[in-house]
Amino acid sequence: MIGRLNHVAIAVPDLEAAARQYASVLGASVRAPQAEPDHGVTVVFIDLPNTRIELLHPLGEASPIAAFLERNPAGGIHHICYEVDDILAARDRLQAEGARILGTGEPKIGAHGKPVLFLHPKDFNGCLLELEQA
Ligand code: CO
Repeated sequence: MIGRLNHVAIAVPDLEAAARQYASVLGASVRAPQAEPDHGVTVVFIDLPNTRIELLHPLGEASPIAAFLERNPAGGIHHICYEVDDILAARDRLQAEGARILGTGEPKIGAHGKPVLFLHPKDFNGCLLELEQA
């Protein structure tokens, strides 16, 4: 059911420093920061030949990234995102298998303008998973 790895998201304490490091030290193609107020994050996309990296930094009061950075002050991998052909069919299948969908269970529009859902990390080996409509 899952398809391509769409991105790996890394929460970072200093977005500018992390973006600079990816551009200069790792020699990656780094885009400009993008505010995502609906998701409580500012994102920097890094394009790799086979996937993307998203650097995440808290935006606003109730950011889901803030608590993560409190627990992981140096930053860390926050989630990974797999593509699915049909996000509603994927959700229904996962719920039937007993997996928990975070939030209302309805897809939200994600950072790439496509519907996304998040799956409970306790159901997936401690890893927060994002599904994105391909
Ligand atoms: Co993501």
